[in-house]
Amino acid sequence: MTWLAETGSTNADLVVQARSGAPHGTVVVADHQTAGRGRLGPTWQAPPGSALLCSILLHPEPGAVVHGAVWAVALAAQSAVAALTGVTPELKWPNDLMIGERKLAGVLAEGVIDPDDPLSLSGVVVGIGLNVGWAEPPPEVAARAITVEELGGRVVDRRFLLARLLADLAPLLVLWIRDPDELQARYRSRLDTLGRLVRVELGDRELTGTAVDVTPEGLVVRLDDGTEEVVLVGDVVHLRPA
Ligand code: BTN
Repeated sequence: MTWLAETGSTNADLVVQARSGAPHGTVVVADHQTAGRGRLGPTWQAPPGSALLCSILLHPEPGAVVHGAVWAVALAAQSAVAALTGVTPELKWPNDLMIGERKLAGVLAEGVIDPDDPLSLSGVVVGIGLNVGWAEPPPEVAARAITVEELGGRVVDRRFLLARLLADLAPLLVLWIRDPDELQARYRSRLDTLGRLVRVELGDRELTGTAVDVTPEGLVVRLDDGTEEVVLVGDVVHLRPA
């Protein structure tokens, strides 16, 4: 594991390392990122030392459900936060950890292509930015973000949080290989988005319906006319419980 005081993006660093043969399970953490990457374009910003900024390199087994790696990291982050605070954050599709309308963490996965075999993924870098604690919330996110320390009501050491997250991740990664259906079932049972009326913003259009399932192909949304659409990438607004 590498823990850096500052870097551009731990995801970007790990993609480079992956191309030079870094092994499954390599972890890069930073106190601060100057070019943190977010899921839908905007950069991920956090004051230095305020968040757990961590990326994990995983090499999927042939035929693996690549999304399983992301599900495993989201589930591990959820249980690690619950263990340290007593509060279980909600999982919002695709991979936000939320407390009500306030975001606690976001997950960004990036595939690593093997130049000798461009049709297969040689690795997946799963990065998580988890708000841990700040003296003053950054004004641009103050109303929309929450920290682990606010949840737990005490100071939390990012090293302990990371240790717990990685410990919780290990058995989930075994499931990813041995029993991906069980991993999917656990993720499904934890996903707060399911059963809700949602608006999915797809960039060029949006759709409204009930989120009824999650599969390796994406979120399954049932529209008013009864048809179903599967959404692989998008931003979800929870409109109300179904
Ligand atoms: C999101 O937009 O919700 C996902 C944000 C993911 C941010 C993390 S911070 C660690 C890792 N490195 C990055 O550059 N991004 C991810």
